[in-house]
Amino acid sequence: MDVILFGPPGAGKGTQGDRLAERFGLERLSTGDLLREHRRNGTPLGREAQRYMDAGELVPDAVILGMVEDVMTARSRARFLFDGFPRTRAQAEGLAALLERLNRKLSAVLVLDVDDETIVERLSSRVFCGNCGAVYNLRTDPPAAPGRCNVCGGRLEQRSDDREETVRNRLAVYRRETAPVLDYYGQGPFTVVHVNGERPVEDVQADLVAQLAA
Ligand code: AP5
Repeated sequence: MDVILFGPPGAGKGTQGDRLAERFGLERLSTGDLLREHRRNGTPLGREAQRYMDAGELVPDAVILGMVEDVMTARSRARFLFDGFPRTRAQAEGLAALLERLNRKLSAVLVLDVDDETIVERLSSRVFCGNCGAVYNLRTDPPAAPGRCNVCGGRLEQRSDDREETVRNRLAVYRRETAPVLDYYGQGPFTVVHVNGERPVEDVQADLVAQLAA
């Protein structure tokens, strides 16, 4: 059972994805996290991705598909929760081919619906731990000690692509390139379920858990 967690930037995919992965024994495969890891490690792939990410543009499909294939091949026994992937029609078709080749099946596409203005507000107040990656929100989920991670005490930072101007471009790219991927999945045979992501984290989670359990 592989699952796609779909939605605009800042919809809560990472927040919910971590919880769902733990609850259902899935492995969250976030292409954004993988790209940031490549950037931190200074790999050629990370260096190529940097200029796209900093501008809020999409990294080329071939790069993304190669990266996903590497993980899925290496972790063949895992059941995946895809977060932030696929983001274009070409990626969706590439994933379909990959699933077939690896004899895997997609069971559901869960979509988090969140309004643009809520997203701009959420991302302008998102911070993350530079050491362990834990994510906070200065408005809705602040750390216990200002600037310090609750989990490991690491220093909290802001993502370079969370500046308002870049967030607005990410949203435009989402509407133009990514949202149409839902038409592709709407043709079946998958279940596409929309969940209202504007509510408190626990309420959104309860809906997603119910959908996945069904
Ligand atoms: P990526 O890292 O995937 O970013 P994104 O999809 O834009 O999503 P985010 O990580 O910003 O948000 P999220 O939905 O996970 O929200 P979160 O849970 O953190 O991609 C970054 C870049 O990499 C892309 O722009 C692109 O350049 C490149 N890239 C990645 N994948 C690619 C691909 N497949 N193809 C091409 N390029 C690719 O929540 C956000 C904030 O809100 C947090 O502070 C959180 O605490 C808070 N929050 C969450 N839920 C709630 C709630 N219910 N109520 C109140 N606050 C909440």
